[in-house]
Amino acid sequence: MTTISLGRAPQGAQARYDAVAMTLHWLIAAGILLNIALGLTMSDFGHGSPIGLAFLALHKSVGLTVLAVSALRVLWRLINPFLPPPPGLSAPLRLAARTTHVLFYVLIIATPLAGWLLSSGAPAPLSWFGLFDWPKFWFYDGMAPPDRHHLAENFARVHVTLAWVMIGLIALHVLAALYHQFIRRDRLLARMIPWL
Ligand code: HEM
Repeated sequence: MTTISLGRAPQGAQARYDAVAMTLHWLIAAGILLNIALGLTMSDFGHGSPIGLAFLALHKSVGLTVLAVSALRVLWRLINPFLPPPPGLSAPLRLAARTTHVLFYVLIIATPLAGWLLSSGAPAPLSWFGLFDWPKFWFYDGMAPPDRHHLAENFARVHVTLAWVMIGLIALHVLAALYHQFIRRDRLLARMIPWL
């Protein structure tokens, strides 16, 4: 059976995402997994310790990169439609898949954006891998330190909550992929894995 390469008017079970969609998907996935690992371990070293600070700096740079790549991913998605669900998938499962995917698009933007908003309140510059200073949000300028701190703390709460929703959603996403691969055996995974 022939394989349809991507996207604009995909048809049937063998339609695949194109190279751009696959590259963006796996870049974002790798960045998010790395950032979850860094985010959950950086406080173990103590906030002021050299390792804690290095992890936090890396976490911010990777997160800002994820935000930029996610913006491209959303643009790509707006130009290229979703692939159709595999044939025979029940309506509730189709709805669950669609909802999960839309939520992912929201979270890959909102989570790093909340991190950027919170880190804009810190006095130190926001460096991107030590190469240049990433711009900060302007509205902290001229704020009294307690107000600044309070606002940044609220963004931190949002950031951490979104990160945990993302962790739950990733677990669901991986379980769904395994269900398709080993229970339904509908080769859905091959749409997003270049060598399958
Ligand atoms: C890929 C996107 C990102 C993910 C998945 C992510 C995930 C996380 C996680 C899991 C935590 C720890 C949550 C906890 O303590 O329970 C965290 C904390 C943190 N993140 Fe991110 N993050 C992302 C992007 C960013 C960005 C872009 C920035 C800043 C530029 C940032 C700044 C921070 C800071 C400062 C904390 C500590 C918050 C606190 O005070 O508790 N993050 N992040």
